[in-house]
Amino acid sequence: MTAQVGHIDGQTQLVGILGYPVAHSLSPEMHNAAFAELGMNWRYVPLLVRPEQLAAALRGVLALGFRGVNLTVPHKVTCIPLLDSVTEAVTIAGAVNTIRIDGSSGRMEGLNTDMSGFLTDLAANRISIGETSRVVILGAGGAARAVGAGLARSGAHITFVNRTAERGAQIADFLRSSWASSKIESAGMDQLAEVSREASLVVNTTPVGMYPSVDASPWPNGVPFPKDAVLYDTVYRPLQTKLMRDAERSGLRAVGGVGMLVYQGASAFEMWTGKKPPIEVMRAICQKRLMEA
Ligand code: ATR
Repeated sequence: MTAQVGHIDGQTQLVGILGYPVAHSLSPEMHNAAFAELGMNWRYVPLLVRPEQLAAALRGVLALGFRGVNLTVPHKVTCIPLLDSVTEAVTIAGAVNTIRIDGSSGRMEGLNTDMSGFLTDLAANRISIGETSRVVILGAGGAARAVGAGLARSGAHITFVNRTAERGAQIADFLRSSWASSKIESAGMDQLAEVSREASLVVNTTPVGMYPSVDASPWPNGVPFPKDAVLYDTVYRPLQTKLMRDAERSGLRAVGGVGMLVYQGASAFEMWTGKKPPIEVMRAICQKRLMEA
């Protein structure tokens, strides 16, 4: 298939994503579809940047007049000291996924739209979390921290359950001190049955079950799912994970991570362009590609 190249001229504005690897990213198609929908002369390009080249790449995108970039693995944390400023969300989540570049001053501001993307998708799915909610977060990496930080504001009781219990304890300690909340805890996998029994929301932030390991699940065999809970899997490739299927079979409502992907992208789009993003166009292209995969 020959790719269609639209009109590019001296007015074309550039944004992109820096990652290593980056070829699998859905963001270029999602943003380019949004630009096309709104008739905007903007393009979004994937940029393969080795970890040791990140500083040079950031100077490069600034010099080339990019309006902003997204960051993915492995740059989300290492970019922080290279930026002029970061938002409060970045300080709490400990990671940047979006940079806004001010062309006139040359300043680079780090943002985290993963956190807001997750919360917006919860709201879009009418999942409300408040002080009486109990949430179990599987995992203790960057995604767990963004999800936990986003939920901490609600006052919910949050328990991080992670393979390496110490990492879960570190995130819980950090968020507890950030929010002066005593309701943020951690537990080992061996305590999952106990701590999840009363949960109203379980969020998987580990990559377990992600393509190509589609037959894997982070939920251990023999541990019952909580009753009347919602299962949110941040994994979106495949659209329906084994964890989601198993949870549904046990009567839970299961939501996949494609909405979080779309809303983090939509938020970045708005930060860069100042325009309201065409959410449904962005969602449709992601779903189409994921169904083809
Ligand atoms: P990210 O920043 O994308 O969240 P990460 O920092 O590598 O990625 O964190 C991935 C999380 O998934 C970690 O909590 C990891 O557990 P460990 O802290 O024990 O490494 C968890 N994880 C990854 N593979 C796993 C597996 N096979 N079983 C259980 N947990 C796993």
